[in-house]
Parts: sequence; structure tokens; C-alpha cells
Amino acid sequence: MSIKAANHPGVVSKAIFPVAGLGTRFLPATKAQPKEMLPVVDKPLIQYAVEEAYAAGVREMIFVTGRHKRPIEDHFDMTFELEVALEQAGKEELLEVVRSVKPDDMECVYVRQAQALGLGHAVLCAQRLVGNEPFAVLLADDLMVGQPPVLQQMVEQFNDWRASILAVQEVPAEHTRRYGIVAGNPVNDKLLDVTRIVEKPAPEAAPSRLAVAGRYILTPGIFREIANQPRGVGGEIQLTDGIAGLLRREKVFAYRYDGKRYDCGSKEGFLQANVELAMAHPQLGEGFREFLRTLEL
Ligand code: UTP
Repeated sequence: MSIKAANHPGVVSKAIFPVAGLGTRFLPATKAQPKEMLPVVDKPLIQYAVEEAYAAGVREMIFVTGRHKRPIEDHFDMTFELEVALEQAGKEELLEVVRSVKPDDMECVYVRQAQALGLGHAVLCAQRLVGNEPFAVLLADDLMVGQPPVLQQMVEQFNDWRASILAVQEVPAEHTRRYGIVAGNPVNDKLLDVTRIVEKPAPEAAPSRLAVAGRYILTPGIFREIANQPRGVGGEIQLTDGIAGLLRREKVFAYRYDGKRYDCGSKEGFLQANVELAMAHPQLGEGFREFLRTLEL
């Protein structure tokens, strides 16, 4: 079978946020709330991801939710009483903070993943809402800090190549078991034409040390591939296996993004993100850095 030239029409105007995972690495904090609602400094993780998507031109946010649906829906809903109270108290700045969570031209829609059958399955749950368009997937527990924002860098690549783009970074050999790992032919120093992708390989079986981070731009052909996948690693329907199917039919590129990633699904990554983002915070940064200097490290 010949691999089609990459020429998908359309703009990336929709993003899927899979938020139905169990978050077992972050128990007990995630026992009764989704890990995506954990705050880093003063914003929940999901808001960082939504803001990143918005900055990249995405306007339709599709949340694939599980049993902890309410807090995320409430966060992106209008909070009438709160807004009235802030308005009456003349707290204009706070009112702006609250209103900016969901700009007027942003739409939020929700679809349920009844059972956490894997990331690929979560993406498949949004098929009807996405339709026949390219779309982004953002895993909010990977907090990305980049300028321009990482998804915007990827949209620029998509606009050049009109093909699926996976965000990748190099990881130590002993960490390959945590990620999808790609291999392929270099197109330039940032981009790789992917020929192989494997989910969570052991270091000795890994085709490289280039790991997929939680940002994807995918063409709609992925849905058919996921639907045809048997369960993969861990008994889950894996997005990685769907992508492995897709690259037999279409070009898929891996993009080495500029920026830093914090794995906020793990306690260590979450603490690192809080410390570094607090240090860089426009209002809190100075005082927080002073506080850190008083600690005996
Ligand atoms: P993870 O691999 O981090 O799994 O999922 P998890 O269950 O959330 O967390 P741990 O490993 O048990 O601590 C990656 C992303 O895919 C979503 C998660 O919410 C997370 O954003 N996901 C995963 C789903 O939405 N549904 C699933 O069935 C699995």
C-alpha cells in the first residue's frame, strides 16, 4: 500500500481533552476529583491546557469525561452568583479572572467515556463531535510551558505539512516504559517522518529515546484505525496502536517542541511545576523566591 502525500484540508478548530482516566498515580488526591482539576499555583491543570489550545486558534473544546464530570463542567460554566457578588463588591480584577476562564467565542462540549478502556478509546468517544476534520488532543496532566505555546508550534507544523503531528522529547533510556516511543527519518532538526511507534517498550526494545508527550494533532483517519485495534499494552485500547495503523496509510510527523513539560500526573512532576511556576508568577514570584531562600536546602 502506498503512503498518501500529506494534504489534509481544514484548520485545527477542535480539541479533545481526555479527562476520564483513573489517576491512580496521584491517589488519594484523585479519589473524588479528576487529576486535571488539581491546581498548579492558582489554576487547575485543565485550564492551562484549554488556554494553550485557545492560543493555538482552537475554539471548540471537547472533554471526554468519566465519573468525575461535575468539577470540570462547573469550572467552564458561568458562575452567576460569584460574578454578581464580585460585581457588587467592585472587584473588577477578580471578575475578569473569573470571566476569562471561558471566553465568549469558546464552546465547551462534553462526552462520556463510561469505562476507562484506554486513551485510544477516550479519543474514539469524541468521533461524532469531531467529524471529518483534523483535531488536537491535549493531555492536561502534561503541563507544557513554551513560547510560542507548544500546540501553536504544532499547528504551524500542521499548516506546513497537512499531516498528523506528534509532540516528542528525548527521555532517558530507563524511562521508555512510560511513553509511546517513535522512530523515523529526519526531515530537519525539529521534525521526523515517523516509520514506527511502540507503546511503553522496555529500554532494550525501544526503537529510540524519542517519547511522545501529551500533545497530538491528528487527521480523522485515526478513528478508523483505533476502532480496528485490539486491546494493547495493559489491556487498554491504545492511541499509540491507532497511530501505528495510521502511519501505514498516511504521513505522520514527530515534532521536537520548544518548551518544558511537567508530568503532573506524577507527584514529583506536579511539585516541580508548582515550584517553578510559582517562582515565575508575576504577582507571587518575588515573595515566593524570597521564601525559598529562607529554607535550609
Ligand atoms: P494516564 O496514562 O495518565 O492514565 O492517561 P490515568 O488513568 O489518567 O492515570 P494513572 O496512570 O492511573 O495515574 C493519560 C490521559 O488519558 C486520559 C487520562 O485522563 C489522562 O489525561 N484517559 C486515560 C482517559 O480519558 N480514559 C482512559 O480510559 C484512559
